[in-house]
Amino acid sequence: PVLVVDFGAQYAQLIARRVREAGVYSEIVPHGVTAEEIKARKPSGIVLSGGPSSVYEEGAPALDPGILELGVPVLGICYGFQVMAQQLGGTVAHTGRREYGSTAVRLSAEAAGEDAPLVAGQPGDQVVWMSHGDSVSEAPEGFRVLASSDSTPVAAFASDERRMYGVQWHPEVKHSVHGQQVIESFLHDAAGIPADWNPGNVIAEQVERIRAQVGDARVICGLSGGVDSAVAAALVQRAVGDRLTCVFVDHGLLREGEAEQVERDYVAATGVNLVVVDAVDVFLDALEGVSDPETKRKIIGREFIRAFERAAADVVEQAKEEGGKVGFLVQGTLYPDVVESGGGSGTANIKSHHNVGGLPEDLEFALVEPLRTLFKDEVRAIGRELGLPEVIVGRQPFPGPGLGIRIVGSVTRDRLATLRRADAIVREELSAAGLDGEIWQCPVVLLADVRSVGVQGDGRTYGHPIVLRPVSSEDAMTADWTRVPYDLLAKVSNRITNEVAEVNRVVLDVTSKPPGTIEWE
Ligand code: XMP
Repeated sequence: PVLVVDFGAQYAQLIARRVREAGVYSEIVPHGVTAEEIKARKPSGIVLSGGPSSVYEEGAPALDPGILELGVPVLGICYGFQVMAQQLGGTVAHTGRREYGSTAVRLSAEAAGEDAPLVAGQPGDQVVWMSHGDSVSEAPEGFRVLASSDSTPVAAFASDERRMYGVQWHPEVKHSVHGQQVIESFLHDAAGIPADWNPGNVIAEQVERIRAQVGDARVICGLSGGVDSAVAAALVQRAVGDRLTCVFVDHGLLREGEAEQVERDYVAATGVNLVVVDAVDVFLDALEGVSDPETKRKIIGREFIRAFERAAADVVEQAKEEGGKVGFLVQGTLYPDVVESGGGSGTANIKSHHNVGGLPEDLEFALVEPLRTLFKDEVRAIGRELGLPEVIVGRQPFPGPGLGIRIVGSVTRDRLATLRRADAIVREELSAAGLDGEIWQCPVVLLADVRSVGVQGDGRTYGHPIVLRPVSSEDAMTADWTRVPYDLLAKVSNRITNEVAEVNRVVLDVTSKPPGTIEWE
């Protein structure tokens, strides 16, 4: 792999993604990693990420100097570039001139040649994204300077002999116009790493792994209707076929068409064994009269586990009758979850604490997590490669508790029907307007405890408002409200008030996150 050394801040994940977009498998390692540990991983390249520190700060994250002696090609970015400069005998100076944001850099005459690493074939003047206080004022001996900016004499350097390269700017950020070219040039031209990481290879490799892990045991997987569990299950199904059983708990809180997409389209595409648990009555009974958001979430979570365990116990029982054993549970854990929880070996056993529905007390499943090394966009690419329907693979994030937390007030069948209709109209119109790529997600919320006066036809109405919450985001941690065109909002509003009984007002949520969360509950 290419190892991305994480110096803090949010850049390492983005770099790892860009490396993979270049067709090269990458993994993130913490900056405390030793040269020995790196060597043991046999990396084909190393990228040192940016970070929020100054190399002069007390306790600034350092790099084991042995790492630069391994003979592995290295690309230093921003803080990583400065650490590299310092360790190799260059000079990093407090210039007192901070560069932040889009900045012009000029390639040096030496870099203008066709064979210049990192910047070959790029225009002499270009715009890059900078974010730094200190600057490299002198390149280490034997390095040539590739670029400079008004306030940074050494904005990029290279030593072909040592196969070491660095840029002060952030090539992983889209605002650096030729950023991806810099990354690809380092990987393919300078380090000579081929572009052979692609969905087809990932599938083949994971199928092998799953077979090796599972042996001849049986496997169970809960499907939520979301992308991750759908792709994880499809991969496992590719590996073990009929020995996988999927369980889909229909809690009645999904959006229009979603249960059918799982029960019909997903099964048609994969041929997976599916057990559907109709738990609608159980969920709605348990939610009756409850309007506190946290209580609703807890009830939905609890009922979900109960329903899933009951179904799992049946699957285990049936397997026994057939002389088989269910030993594994599939989970759709993604790489960002793994990185953010500090790694871990993936051998966790989940133990069932709820002794319900005849589930044996000591029932333990080992986890199969075929998406543990993948980013979300890769999961989607693999899902497409596996032939999953676009409505599932392209689905925007949707919370586990579903429409249950999009009704402000208690949840009833009628209210669910109202919200489902309004939500379907919104999704249809946003998609038709081609906004799916721009919008991260658009919760549609029914204010069931609020009424307002309206006039429809010849009469006065006293109906409920629907809230539209379109947001743009990179990762759901922060978000901004999407500037949806007025004409489109007008159309959506018209359709909802005309087509959905009980709704006489449509309002737009124009709050960023923070302070507002994306969901209303
Ligand atoms: P908030 O409302 O916290 O949401 O800004 C951030 C993202 O998380 C989703 N979300 C959930 N997803 N189970 C989930 O699987 C949940 O309980 C849940 N609550 C919120 C939300 O849709 C948004 O994408």
